[in-house]
Amino acid sequence: MAADTPSVPSYLPYGRQAIDEDDIAAVTAVLRGDWLTQGPTVTRFEQAFAQAVGARHAIACANGTAALHLACMALDLQPGDAVVVPAVTFLATANAARYCGAEVAFADVDPETGLMGRADAEAAIARAEAAGWRVRALAPVHFAGQAADMDALGDLAEARGLAIIEDACHAVGSRRARTNGGVGTVALGACDRSAMACFSFHPVKTIAAGEGGMVTTNDDALARSLRRNVSHGMVRDPAAFQDRAAAFGATGAANPWYYEMPAPGYNYRLTDIHAALGLSQLGKLDRFVRRRAEMVARYDERLAPLAPLIRHAGRSGGEPAWHLYVVLIDFAALGRDRAAVMAELRAQGVGSQVHYIPVHHQPYYRERYGSLNLPGADGWYQACLSLPLFPAMADYDVGRVAAALERLAGA
Ligand SMILES: Cc1ncc(COP(=O)(O)O)c(C=O)c1O
Repeated sequence: MAADTPSVPSYLPYGRQAIDEDDIAAVTAVLRGDWLTQGPTVTRFEQAFAQAVGARHAIACANGTAALHLACMALDLQPGDAVVVPAVTFLATANAARYCGAEVAFADVDPETGLMGRADAEAAIARAEAAGWRVRALAPVHFAGQAADMDALGDLAEARGLAIIEDACHAVGSRRARTNGGVGTVALGACDRSAMACFSFHPVKTIAAGEGGMVTTNDDALARSLRRNVSHGMVRDPAAFQDRAAAFGATGAANPWYYEMPAPGYNYRLTDIHAALGLSQLGKLDRFVRRRAEMVARYDERLAPLAPLIRHAGRSGGEPAWHLYVVLIDFAALGRDRAAVMAELRAQGVGSQVHYIPVHHQPYYRERYGSLNLPGADGWYQACLSLPLFPAMADYDVGRVAAALERLAGA
């Protein structure tokens, strides 16, 4: 990564993978081996990931969406139950609850950070209970790699008897600060204040597996459920077999072909091909996180004079593995709407994206829940724009993006 020369390609998307020759070699080695589907490389990836975040279990799966669905299944969410989901997130956080028939209690977010706080979650719980739903879980999203306040949300969950599923799809490699007086930082995924944490290895995320996901947990029973449902609901542990007559032969040993399915699961398995890439990339996580932090610091410095017209929607605290660099833009003061700004940036070779259209505005959810008043989420949506941020970018590229914004701002 040359710091002071343009990166290739010269068009900068808002995010993209950084693949080296050793990543390619790792995938090639799997292709030359015996296992293409889930095999020993998946196990190695799971073990390395669990160790990296400090969790007892890590269960690999096909993508972050599958991870969230598996987590909701592990909590045995049912129709009539509800999950509190911040409105500013990707569709999948909310949809995972619906896959189980549970309702989505959309919560507002801080319009400066996009994060759901304790008061937002409490208001969503009150609305859900007024609707007659049984709130079972909170699903905070560690937006852009910044940690949600897990101590405050953890206290709330404990007080209300709720589980927490962390949507950490943006936050591979992030560490959170303790906000309850504790010292030091904790890796997201350690699940010290949650039941489970879900990750994505989509190519725009901090590490890439092509498609890929992971659920971490410290709870053995949840881990068993996650493992069962990632592969059709199949049980192969003789100790868990229910139909003893069918399961065991005359010698008392379990029949070698035998498996059971107590309830249907899915084929959400990761392949060894994807795991090889994920594992290879995991070895570079620290470098990727450092490079992202350097670029964020450089953006912050260059863009500081453009505030309050254009400003970083970042929050201090902890050690975020920045997935996105989001700016909040006062489009009215700028005299251009967001579509015009995106078009002008594009004309200068700068990609940008909107994270996110608040999910409660999607026709499906609007039809189901009516129109909700979540002013923080709407305020965020009116102003947000994600700028290019990926490890293969050079410092020069950050300067290019900043210069394009300076021109827009007439600075
Ligand atoms: C916040 C969030 N949750 C869930 C997902 C789903 O992850 P995946 O694309 O791996 O299914 C994503 C990815 O786009 C995401 O950004």
